[in-house]
Amino acid sequence: MQKLIVHGKQTLSGDLHVSGSKNTALPLMAAAILGGGKSVLSAIPNLKDVRTFSRVIGFTGVSIEQDPTAGTLTVDALNVDEPEAPYELVKRMRASFYMMGALLGRCGEARVSLPGGCAWGPRPVNLHIEGSRALGAEVELDQGYVVARAPGGRLRGGSFMLTPSSVGATVNLLLGAVTAAGPSRIENAATEPDVVVFGEYLQRMGASIAGLGSPTIEVEGVDQLSPADFANCPDRIEMGTFMIAAAMAGQPGHDVNIVGGRADHLGAAFTDAFERTGAEVGYAEDSIAVRAPQSIQPVSITTGVYPGFPTDLQAQWTVFMTQASGNSKVTDTVYTDRFKHIPELRRMGLNAIVVGNEVVVEGGTRLSGAHVMSTDLRASVSLVLAGMVAEGDTHVQRIYHLDRGYEDLEGKLSRAGIEIERVTYDEFADPEHESQHSR
Ligand code: EPU
Repeated sequence: MQKLIVHGKQTLSGDLHVSGSKNTALPLMAAAILGGGKSVLSAIPNLKDVRTFSRVIGFTGVSIEQDPTAGTLTVDALNVDEPEAPYELVKRMRASFYMMGALLGRCGEARVSLPGGCAWGPRPVNLHIEGSRALGAEVELDQGYVVARAPGGRLRGGSFMLTPSSVGATVNLLLGAVTAAGPSRIENAATEPDVVVFGEYLQRMGASIAGLGSPTIEVEGVDQLSPADFANCPDRIEMGTFMIAAAMAGQPGHDVNIVGGRADHLGAAFTDAFERTGAEVGYAEDSIAVRAPQSIQPVSITTGVYPGFPTDLQAQWTVFMTQASGNSKVTDTVYTDRFKHIPELRRMGLNAIVVGNEVVVEGGTRLSGAHVMSTDLRASVSLVLAGMVAEGDTHVQRIYHLDRGYEDLEGKLSRAGIEIERVTYDEFADPEHESQHSR
């Protein structure tokens, strides 16, 4: 297995480059299946989740080729031989469930493994299933698989209200609705930039969609979509992570430039909270300059759907707040038990109380390096951030979680002055045996 060793108390300086968005790349890849020909997607990050989803798509007979150097992915969806997403692949990544909408839309049938639990608790897919039924699909469960069929080979379209709003269900329903025989309406649809950009790609392919970015999306089904090339947008969560890194580990009074992100995708709740910490932000066309404050002000946040504070940045915010001049609260209303990072951070000195979906974080904490374990993607990056400001070395183990969603994190951070290295280790090595050797 691999781990990152972060040498603490280094100063972040210079530039950090934002890669293409993971959570937009995945729905774009699913959409390309509807094109029925060759589409080239660009600004696709070289991430484990992209490779996993490529395998899921490849399983159907669609040809898919990634050029990590060029950042492109060529999807040739001329043939779909096997409208199925098998358990072996779906269990690795929940977003594989997008195959339900993509295959229903393209073939009128789909057999997709139900994703299991997630590291931080249950993440249901009931809305994906009920919503597909509202669009006309017949859906049943067969040995852990969702089997969905459109009578006559084509969905008829329909209306569905998402309660709560869901990024994944909005994507899945759009994938099905765009080639349905009749109109569809999605109420309380997700307004996240990932969904908007994905919807713009469907429009480029010939879909008729109105209301993207608003809670009501209306679709007029078309007979078929055409293949199209498309450029992915930058990763807003990576951008937010880098902003927090710059405010915590940058030298007060000096700029760290975050290049290639889209500030308008961050959402007002994050940017407002960020600026209230005292960090200064200068917005330019293709970059933003973050200047660390002399003293970080404590700012409490509550996650919510876009433009609310992203749940995907709450673990990083918690670490940020350990360095503030007072106490603060971090509340997650989207995933009420997404706190797997807390026990690991406690091993580094975090003083925090978790009550329900709320964490009270003590500011002014001196973190110290420790061996800690990644449990999921955002928890992992929060441990790296903690390692950057800690005394001594932090060993972040099991970084396969991190590799799912951060492209070349250690390369980017080390080019910006952080001493960080990737090391292969044996997690199950006998410590006694090891210590005898090292004596
Ligand atoms: N929900 C239901 N039923 C459903 C679907 C969702 O009750 O059928 C609930 C969830 O339990 C949650 C809320 O709806 O409370 C929102 O979940 P959503 O469906 O929006 O999440 P998702 O589509 O599964 C995506 C991102 C997540 C991100 C969430 C929230 C991708 C591939 N994943 O997940 O990203 O946290 O939206 O913004 O886009 C990550 O990148 O680390 C990550 C987990």
